[in-house]
Amino acid sequence: MCGIVGYIGEKEAYPIILNGLKRLEYRGYDSAGIALFDGKNINLCKTKGKVVDLEKKFSDKQSNKGSLGIGHTRWATHGIPNDVNSHPHLSNSGDLVIIHNGIIENYASIKKELLNRGYTFTSDTDTEVLVNLIEDVKKKENVKLGKAVQIALNQVVGAYAIALFDKTKPDEIVVAKLGSPLAIGIGEEEFFIASDASPFIEFTNNAIYLEDEEMAIVRKGRAIEVRKIKDDSVVAPYIQELKLNLEQIEKGGFDHFMLKEIYEQPTVIKDTYRGRLLPTKGIIKLGGLENYIEKFTNADRIIIVACGTSWHAGLVAEYIFEDLARIPVEVEYASEFRYRNPIITEKDVVIAISQSGETADTLAAIKLAKEKGAFVYGICNVVGSTISRETHSGTYTHAGPEIGVASTKAFTTQITVLTMIALKLAKIKGSISNAHYMLLLQELEMIPSKVQEALETDSKIKEIASIFKDVSNFLYLGRGYNFPVALEGALKLKEISYIHAEGYPAAEMKHGPIALIDEQMPVVVIAVNSNHYDKVVSNIQEIKSRKGKIIAVVTEGDTTVKEMADYIMEVPNTPEVLTPLVTTIPLQLLSYHIAVMLEKNVDQPRNLAKSVTVE
Ligand code: AGP
Repeated sequence: MCGIVGYIGEKEAYPIILNGLKRLEYRGYDSAGIALFDGKNINLCKTKGKVVDLEKKFSDKQSNKGSLGIGHTRWATHGIPNDVNSHPHLSNSGDLVIIHNGIIENYASIKKELLNRGYTFTSDTDTEVLVNLIEDVKKKENVKLGKAVQIALNQVVGAYAIALFDKTKPDEIVVAKLGSPLAIGIGEEEFFIASDASPFIEFTNNAIYLEDEEMAIVRKGRAIEVRKIKDDSVVAPYIQELKLNLEQIEKGGFDHFMLKEIYEQPTVIKDTYRGRLLPTKGIIKLGGLENYIEKFTNADRIIIVACGTSWHAGLVAEYIFEDLARIPVEVEYASEFRYRNPIITEKDVVIAISQSGETADTLAAIKLAKEKGAFVYGICNVVGSTISRETHSGTYTHAGPEIGVASTKAFTTQITVLTMIALKLAKIKGSISNAHYMLLLQELEMIPSKVQEALETDSKIKEIASIFKDVSNFLYLGRGYNFPVALEGALKLKEISYIHAEGYPAAEMKHGPIALIDEQMPVVVIAVNSNHYDKVVSNIQEIKSRKGKIIAVVTEGDTTVKEMADYIMEVPNTPEVLTPLVTTIPLQLLSYHIAVMLEKNVDQPRNLAKSVTVE
């Protein structure tokens, strides 16, 4: 996620903004910039890299004077990380300067109109389009900045937290919010703008958190003005007195980044399909795929290469692609694929999945596949990462930075992208009926609310965790689409609680693992509504007859398994193909609570790195 900081008041803005950006570094970013008004000009400095690079560049180049300014750390979504695409962005006249966190979905059509009106652009960003739209409105309607922002934002589709000022009227900053966070710190004769309170908590603990579709104008020495963007109606601001400390603010009030990221899943799944999944039109738009559809529809097979949790997402994709798009899929551990001299031809499509986009084994597998002539498609979470640059094309997940070493929101957003790809190919191939296709688009759009429902069972899952936190082994069982989820649930538990856990296809129990079952062995069974439901019920009976303890993930309202299991974790009903997006939630929470109860280092577990860039 990008970070925004702004200041207007009596103090020097530069040190406040620079330190504020440093406070937001935890959000993850790839470039940074600051714009200051020195009483006459806008001094703007921005750079790919870290805030410390910006600090050096600023001190080398220009004055950092002025008591009005805005600053930004960019997590790239449109346009690769480089100096030009970094924020802040100036309007064509040079009068307006803006910073933005979010995604303007209809920026391309707005840019086209502005180009026709003679506007020029230096960057590939949606943000530069927005600042010039505001300038265009301001000129055409002959209105002040605040009104121009309100009119312009009513033409915009997407998510934003913006801050901007006009050098011709340097006594105010205008801010607006939809979908991305924006906090306003209220000091004595001064205002602070930020993505969260961490940049200004040392100056004031009085803050306003703008609601969606609200804008505000902060003016030196005057009261804040808050309005509704839609109808310009005045809003009475709710000023909170913050009691959070700095560390709590960085984690959004959660105790760990992992828990924050588990709870971000409804939002980031929506961010990942925003502008891409259009159920009312019955279409899926994936920019990176549009020019390569034939590669997939004519492919002999799809080979998925990945590691760890991303490999589990690939395994889910195998079921989805073969079930819906009827394209043969093989899923390979990248670390094995790269060394086993695999048979790869030009008729193969390789999909590489990686949250970090830097995993050495996955990168090596990509290079091998390219050498042998395959078309390689990437699914990454970091714009401009090595893997995203090495693949022929790809689709980014919009999960935002994943700080916790244990991958959670990356998994569900990867599956979201893979499901959209499979549905798009199935529609083109006619391998599913239009009715089924349309139903799945609508159901996929409802997933964020179903994930939210699953998150609301957290306290119940915490109780279950307290019962099993001291066991030495766990088994995780699933069938079909939920076999990979069983593997993922076991990995989550292993890597943060250090309890040994194994995932298995439920039917495999009788081929050996059932020998492990006794009253000391808790077995997590994913037993949601599916074609395999009755078979899974039989597996549960087999375990119970050997005194195993059953913790079952069931579809809410299930009565059969509820009677058999020792403990149940309920998830909302959804078509089987989408169940991994909800069944993984209780497993993430179970592993999180057990690890916390065991006082493990949840965000940085022992022996692990967030990105395994070594072989
Ligand atoms: C998952 O929780 C682990 N942190 C790890 O298995 C991870 O998924 C794996 O290293 C792959 O990372 P990538 O997605 O960044 O390539």
